[in-house]
Amino acid sequence: MTEVTTSHTAAGGSGDANGHGGAGPLPLASFDDPHLQPLAKHPKRAEATVAVLLVIGLLGFAAYGAVYWVGGQPQVEGITMGIGLFFFGFGLSAWGKYLLPQGPFVEQRHELSSPPAARAAMAAAVTERGGMVLRRRSVLGGILGAGGAVMGVVLAFPLLRSLGPVPKQSLDTTNWKKGSYLVDSLGRRVHVADLAVGGALTVFPEGYTSDEDMAVDQTMLLRIAGPDVSIVTAPHRKTWGPDGYLAFSKVCTHAGCPVGLYQHQTLQLVCPCHQSMFDVGQGRPALPVFGPAPRPLPQLPLYVDSAGFLRSQASYDQPIGPGFWERTTRAHYS
Ligand code: FES
Repeated sequence: MTEVTTSHTAAGGSGDANGHGGAGPLPLASFDDPHLQPLAKHPKRAEATVAVLLVIGLLGFAAYGAVYWVGGQPQVEGITMGIGLFFFGFGLSAWGKYLLPQGPFVEQRHELSSPPAARAAMAAAVTERGGMVLRRRSVLGGILGAGGAVMGVVLAFPLLRSLGPVPKQSLDTTNWKKGSYLVDSLGRRVHVADLAVGGALTVFPEGYTSDEDMAVDQTMLLRIAGPDVSIVTAPHRKTWGPDGYLAFSKVCTHAGCPVGLYQHQTLQLVCPCHQSMFDVGQGRPALPVFGPAPRPLPQLPLYVDSAGFLRSQASYDQPIGPGFWERTTRAHYS
C-alpha cells in the first residue's frame, strides 16, 4: 500500500530555529488509515450515484445554454438553470459526504510555551528592570499622579456646572393665577365674542412676555360650542368652560412640544411631534386617546368677567408638561 508524507513533517520533526523543543517526527500517513477511507459502505455505488447527479446537473446547464442560444424563454431558462444548480450541488454534496475522507485528523505540534529556565530568566529581568524604572522615575511618577488628580477634578467642572440651579417649585407652577386676563401673542385681551365656534387661539397670562414665561404659560383657547353653553369636561369642572370656551396647557405631556393643532370635527387637540391626540369634548378633559402622551393636558379654569373678557379662575390644577422625578399627580381641584 502506498504511503504518503504530510507536508509539515520536516518542519515539525526537530523543533524550530530558536531551539524550542519538538515532538519528534510525525508519523507517516497511509491510505489504509481508517480516517482516510470513504464513509460509504459501497464506494462504487456512491461514485455512480454522484456521477448521475452531476450528469443531470450538466444536462440542465446544457439545456439552459441551448434555450438561451435559440432566443430564450424566461420560464424555461429558469427551470433548466434550477435543475443544473440543484443536481450539481446535490452531486457535490454527496461527493464530499460519502467519497472524501471524514477524519478526525490530528496535527502534531510542538509545545508552544518557553522552557522553564527561559521563563524564569524573563521574570527576573522584568522584575529587575521594573524596579529600576520606579527608582529612577519617582519624580515623573509623582507628577503623573498629580496631573491625573487635577484632570479628574477639572473634568468634573462641566458636569457640576451643567446641572444648573435647583429648579425648586418652578416646574410645578406657571404665571397663571386667579384673575389673570387671557391675552394673545400681541398682548390684546381676549373678549368672549372674539372666537367663533371651532376657533382656536394661543393665549398667555397678561403681563408675562419673556420667552421663558411664554414657553411655560402658553395655553390653547378653544371655542367648541356657542354662547350660553358651559362645557363640563369632568364632574368637578362644571364652571371651567364658560360660553363654550375651554383652555388647556399647550405643553405636551409627552416631550413638551406645543400641542398646536385643533380638529373641531373630532374635538381633538393634536401634537405634531409624535401625533398624540387629546379629546376635549364634553366629559373628556383632554384625555390622550392616541400616541405616546401619558397624561391629559392640564385644564385652565376660565370665567367671563362683567366686561366680557376671559380670565382664569386660578392656575392649572397640576404641573404642566412632561413628567419629572418629583412630579406628583395630585390635582389641586380634585
Ligand atoms: S411631544 Fe407631543 S406627542 Fe411627543
